[in-house]
Amino acid sequence: MTDTTEDYIASRSNVRTYLKQALLDQQNSIVDDEALYGRVKEALLQTDTTLVAHYYVDSKLQKLAEETGGIVSDSLEMARFGANSTARNLIVAGVSFMGETAKILSPEKNVWMPTLEATCSLDLGCPIEEFGVFCDENADRTVVVYANTSAAVKARADWVVTSSIAIDVVDYLDRNGEKILWAPDRYLGRYIQKQTGADMLLWDSACVVHEEFRMNDLEALRRLHPDAGLLVHPESPEEMISEADAVGSTSQLIAAAVSLPNPEYIVATDKGIFYKMQQAVPGKRLIEAPTRGAGGSCQSCARCPWMAMNQLSRLLRVLTDWPGACEVLVDERLAEAALRPLNRMLAFKQSQRS
Ligand code: 13P
Ligand code: SF4
Repeated sequence: MTDTTEDYIASRSNVRTYLKQALLDQQNSIVDDEALYGRVKEALLQTDTTLVAHYYVDSKLQKLAEETGGIVSDSLEMARFGANSTARNLIVAGVSFMGETAKILSPEKNVWMPTLEATCSLDLGCPIEEFGVFCDENADRTVVVYANTSAAVKARADWVVTSSIAIDVVDYLDRNGEKILWAPDRYLGRYIQKQTGADMLLWDSACVVHEEFRMNDLEALRRLHPDAGLLVHPESPEEMISEADAVGSTSQLIAAAVSLPNPEYIVATDKGIFYKMQQAVPGKRLIEAPTRGAGGSCQSCARCPWMAMNQLSRLLRVLTDWPGACEVLVDERLAEAALRPLNRMLAFKQSQRS
């Protein structure tokens, strides 16, 4: 990975620039109100449009998806639901890789996003040029990439996985004697490696939100809440994962909150998940996990700046003034190549169900 270190540092500075822009954008946004909510809801119901939302977006958008026949879910279920939807139009409230995945799986549908600027630090941290070299240099390995990547990176991959299915896929490949090249999240990669014992070569990138969770203040918080369970997304540092009562995708963390016996939980993932998690466990208390620890400063403070760019006002503009402006388009050649590993993931998931 020495060849890519400088590029990785450059990507990090891109991430910081994006963070500043996103936060500014958030501050300048129109104040969302009930009237706006009503207009967006009506526009959604009047058109043949399904809203597919991630757990991290504003709770108002999650509520809209629930009230208009859409879905709020993790990234795997968003992909499955979008592909199976009979609606002509999909609006994906999330980040760009989710919109791209929806378009690749349903090229015949119109796919929009409230903004096309919402990216992801993992996607930014894995540019196709460097990733291509990494693959070429390790051509004996099966390329498994996280869904949080560009269409171009997916097009280079043998498999695409999300956090909810990554361990199962890598375990399957390992049992077939395959050596893995993994990208881009190093924490998730290490976690999968530990769980499966697979031979994995890891790309070195991270999620700006999850990598900020730290043990320091968590210990103090746990002393205050001795009965609290710890729920951790696997994009978090190893020190958090090793202490967790449950590690998993966003949907898996919500399921764990239901099945574990604890009366309260410390939750180490984006705060947006509290909306659906609290619905699932109305009688239990949810506590935010601390970031960085005493004296530290966090960049994102457990809130993905790109997910936060999904706002009601932008959604309304897509549905009224901007048809076409925020349409997700994917280069046909890339889409065709990226479809193969994506379909492999969906078929694998299907085979687990049957
Ligand atoms: P999930 O697949 O768990 O929803 O994760 C997506 C994501 O971007 C987490 O940061
Ligand atoms: Fe990407 Fe992290 Fe945001 Fe998820 S939370 S979309 S991994 S930056």
